[in-house]
This record gives sequence, structure tokens and C-alpha cells, in this order.
Amino acid sequence: MNNVSLVSISDLSKEEILELLETARKFEENPNQRLLEGKVAATLFFEPSTRTRLSFETAVNRLGGRVIGFSDASTTSSSKGETMHDTIRMVANYADVIIMRHHLEGAARYASEFSPVPIINAGDGANQHPSQTMLDLYSIYKTQGTLENLTVTMVGDLKYGRTVHSLLMAMYHFKPKFNFIACKELQMPNEYKVFCDEHGIEYHESTDFSEEIINESDILYMTRVQRERFTDLMEYERVKDLYNLHNAMLDNSKENLRILHPLPRVNEIAYDVDSNPKAYYFQQAQNGLYAREAIICKVLGIEVK
Ligand code: CP
Repeated sequence: MNNVSLVSISDLSKEEILELLETARKFEENPNQRLLEGKVAATLFFEPSTRTRLSFETAVNRLGGRVIGFSDASTTSSSKGETMHDTIRMVANYADVIIMRHHLEGAARYASEFSPVPIINAGDGANQHPSQTMLDLYSIYKTQGTLENLTVTMVGDLKYGRTVHSLLMAMYHFKPKFNFIACKELQMPNEYKVFCDEHGIEYHESTDFSEEIINESDILYMTRVQRERFTDLMEYERVKDLYNLHNAMLDNSKENLRILHPLPRVNEIAYDVDSNPKAYYFQQAQNGLYAREAIICKVLGIEVK
């Protein structure tokens, strides 16, 4: 890992990813351990969040640490013009680790360059969401028994969805095959397709969310169209409801198929899917607690037995 911060999933080697998954497994067995006694974590959320912030804060609480921070930057001195540089330098006086979400791509990387304490990227614009990827990998491993040689179908907003970008980069260690299902406005950005080409990863792009593609998938990774990233709201209105998963579409899917979604969902998964045993998105969010306990201990150099 670069400078003990976790900014991009590519900061982690395959071995480090596997170690973190093993640590998450230990935390699932025993989530309450007093490993952060005397430590303070700061959660700086310049963008809205439910799961990421609350699961990081729960992780710190369950490990016996304390949390400071904000969930609304308009109540902080950044609204008076304080720069991110100064905010991070200040908060580092109070906390042992900073967990931050920001709308600007590269914000966490920038902070990590001068922060004297580790930075954990809790999402930077459309770029990266590495802690989400760790819980996604943990969920995939738990449900499939392996991370290797899986067919992963990503559906929805592949342009602005940072979770699919991070997951794609992490899965490259495990010889995946990808299906990218998106309308032409929201296709997987070229840089990620080049990444696949350079690493010999097979992918197939389609605008058609066909049952044939669902039926060959091990993981169906649904995503929300990210309204907050659009500059043209008319375009958002045009594309927001193009891909909807209904229970009947899963009738001939593989037994091991699991449906993941980083959440929040809007309309992309119908409520009739929730009772299907292949729906895994709420357990996936629960796995976030264990994955984030593991990440916090890793960046603070705390051994987990
Ligand atoms: N998956 C995710 O990042 O959810 P929140 O935006 O609620 O944190």
C-alpha cells in the first residue's frame, strides 16, 4: 500500500487483498474487539452517504475507538473558504486516521500526499471506492467460494459508477470475464477497457440486458444511474430507467448467481427480487462492516489475531 493510505484499489497487491479478506472473515466471527482503544477516527464526508459512513463509524465503535467528523460540509469551515489542504492538516491534529468522501476525483490521493495520518478513500467522484470493492470481493468470495474465473455482469451506470471501476481493477487478479451492459451514454470508460485489454481480460459490451447474459453470469452487479454526476438533467431523465431487473428475469439463471448492488437503489431492482435467495445486496452491505474493520486495522498497522 502507498504511504499506508488506501486511496485506490490498485494500492493493494493480490496478497494484500487476500489478507484483508481473511481479516474480514475474522471480524465476521468476532466483530467486537478492543483494538482501537485510545484511537480517534475522523469521517469527513463532503458528499452524502448512508452505508459507507455508518459502517465505518460502526467499525470504529465496535473496535473500541472514537469517531469525530461531519456528514455535511456546509456546516464546516470549508463553507467559509477553508481549503481541503488546511482542513486535512487540521483534522490530522485530532485523529489517527481520516476517512473521506469527496465529489472531486483525486481528492483522497491529493490529501494522502500531505496528510501525516492515513487517508481512507470513501469515494472520490466517479473515480474509486476501494472499501466498497473490499466488501464486494468479500461478498463474492463468500457466495461463490472463489474469486477466480467468474463471469461478472455489470449493469447500469458504468461511466460514473465508481464502484464498478474499482471492482474491475481488483478482479483483474482473478481472471474474470466481464459483461458490460449500459446505454451508449453510460458505457464503461475507455481507460478501463484499455486496462482489460492490457491485462488480457475478456469483456463483452452490450446495450441489451438479455436473459442470455443473465443466465451465463455468476455475479450480476446492478448499479444506480448517478444523477449527481450529470451536467445535463434532461439526459439523466432519458437514461435513468433503462435497465430494471425483475424476478421473472432470473428464472433460468445459474444456481450460484448472486445479485449485488452497492446501494442505494432507485428503480434498477424491482422489490419482487428481494425475496429471491439470489438477491444478496443487503447482506453485501452488512459485509461492509467486517471489510471496513479490516481496512482500518490495516492502515493503522494493527495486527488482528
Ligand atoms: N455504497 C455506498 O457507497 O453507499 P453510500 O453512498 O450510502 O455510502
